[in-house]
Amino acid sequence: MERVIGIDLGTTNSCVSVVEDGVPVVIPNRGGYKTTPSIVAVTEAGKRLIGHIAKRQAITNAENTVVAAKRLIGRKWNSPQVATSIAMYQYRIVEGPHADVRIQLREKIYSVPEISAMILQEMKIIAEDYLGEEVSKAVITCPAYFNDNQRQATKDAGLIAGLDVIRVINEPTAAALAYGFGKKIDRLVAVYDLGGGTFDISLLEIGSEGVFKVVSTAGDTFLGGEDFDARIMDWLLADFQAKHGVDLRQDRMAMQRLKDAAEKAKCELSATRQTEINLPFIISTGRNEALHLQCQLTREKLEELTGDLIQQTIDICANTLDEAGLDIEDIEDVVLVGGMTRMPKVQERVAELFKREPCKGVHPDEVVALGAAIQGSMLVAEKSEVMLLDVTPHTLGIMVVGGFFEPLIPKDTTVPTSQTKTFTTVRDNQTAVKILVLQGESEKAEENELLGEFVLTGLRRAPKGEVEIDVTFEINADGIVAVSARDLETGQEQSITVTASSGLTKEEVKEMAQSSHEYLVERRRGEEAEKANQEAETLIGEIERYMPQVEEVVRGSEHGPEAISKAKEVVEHARNALRSGVPDAEMKEILDSLRRTLRMFKAVLT
Ligand SMILES: Nc1ncnc2c1ncn2[C@@H]1O[C@H](COP(=O)(O)OP(=O)(O)OP(=O)(O)O)[C@@H](O)[C@H]1O
Ligand SMILES: [Mg+2]
Repeated sequence: MERVIGIDLGTTNSCVSVVEDGVPVVIPNRGGYKTTPSIVAVTEAGKRLIGHIAKRQAITNAENTVVAAKRLIGRKWNSPQVATSIAMYQYRIVEGPHADVRIQLREKIYSVPEISAMILQEMKIIAEDYLGEEVSKAVITCPAYFNDNQRQATKDAGLIAGLDVIRVINEPTAAALAYGFGKKIDRLVAVYDLGGGTFDISLLEIGSEGVFKVVSTAGDTFLGGEDFDARIMDWLLADFQAKHGVDLRQDRMAMQRLKDAAEKAKCELSATRQTEINLPFIISTGRNEALHLQCQLTREKLEELTGDLIQQTIDICANTLDEAGLDIEDIEDVVLVGGMTRMPKVQERVAELFKREPCKGVHPDEVVALGAAIQGSMLVAEKSEVMLLDVTPHTLGIMVVGGFFEPLIPKDTTVPTSQTKTFTTVRDNQTAVKILVLQGESEKAEENELLGEFVLTGLRRAPKGEVEIDVTFEINADGIVAVSARDLETGQEQSITVTASSGLTKEEVKEMAQSSHEYLVERRRGEEAEKANQEAETLIGEIERYMPQVEEVVRGSEHGPEAISKAKEVVEHARNALRSGVPDAEMKEILDSLRRTLRMFKAVLT
């Protein structure tokens, strides 16, 4: 049976998992870490770096290092979150051709799904190294509160990375699945997931028959650890400005150092009550005088700086309980997911709200990927032991006269689902109808997220009101929206043209997938070449070590001197090839002659 990997594509960290002999396991990367930083960089030499190695060089290459790309995925250029990100991050965020968001690294401009695809590709490689075979099928997770544009973009990222994304599942649902898998419990569970970039709360019924039914979900896709770090940074910046009269915001390197220090302090304060932030030579003034940043941060101060952020998550939880018509007492288990739930104040506030201590024994960084792998294995299994019933987090509807929003599928409806609406022409001989599809909870269409414009074309010419078309709005198990239309009288499918709102076109995705594939081939080739070079170096070393002894033994023999000078030639030739570089085929020949020479030497000496 084909393997399916589960990928938690996080804002800060990504994690890949697979089910082996019925047990989900997290796959460590080459460095032995179970999670990989979701960071992509391009060096001055044009080399692409991903993960820990990208993180390590972020300070000196802040402008070409992308962090938290997930905060931008599927967003429109003119959204407030994009404006905030531009102010917050050191890399260049630019406008794309569909009023979408692009990122410039060195000379090249990438779409956000392309950046995410680089991380996904890395996770795919980590899995392939571990499994020793090629992997193509994957389940990828996304925040439960992601809208259709963000989900489509996540799926595009998978396609670009060369993955067959068999399902996109919600992060808290995946966490619940990993938590309840094989436990035979019947319980109403709340999953509180506060990660680096997003917040989700999901309420689920876990049934002993393996049914995981989401009752309600809510969240904020722009609320997470990044915002906590930003609060610490703002505090440090204000303090520095007051002390020295210098604004550090203008200096990319200083800002990157500040960000690292802020995050580190935040994490330390989960274990200690006070920590020192110490950044020597943070900036030099016009008079060439170096300034240092040094201060103490206490846990109390951190809690004061970020209290309202935690409060927002608590309010969202209380709201969703309310909307679902549930009492606090109905919740039987609280599961904490995401690195930010290590913060004591977060744990305290969640425990206070739900009037119970959260469950222990769930790994907040790994549980989402484990759930994705379980779902993946179940999707390809002949008989699945689990059934996931998730919901759509936003109301789907259309714009009607007066700019109002008419809901078609309410939020928290179990997916997949569909809804049909009949449209009639309003003018004589009307041949086209334009429909705006939106997601959101506002009565005003313009306050909701525009998913796309659908134009029904080629309508029959007839007096007004005579042409009736059924338009079906569908949300599939990935939470992705599709629309189809049918002429009621003729029974004919109507053509619908969808104009990309902020997403990529099919052609763009295809091209990006192609260049991502080419990159992978090139990279694999580079790795092979690197291996060949290393082998050549080793062989040369060994041959030279034996050389004096061999010369000694064969000195008097007839063909001895000739063999020696031949061996020296082979070594010399290999040296030159290593220095100047040669095509792969030539390096193969060189390796063969080195191996032959070494064999001959060894034979002489035995
Ligand atoms: N000990 C700790 N105390 C406080 N915060 C922590 C601790 N460890 C990690 N974090 C924070 O948790 C966040 C990362 O969490 P996680 O890896 O779960 O996020 P993610 O899955 O990448 O993001 P998301 O789910 O939002 O897309 C970072 O902001 C990090 O600083
Ligand atoms: Mg996460």
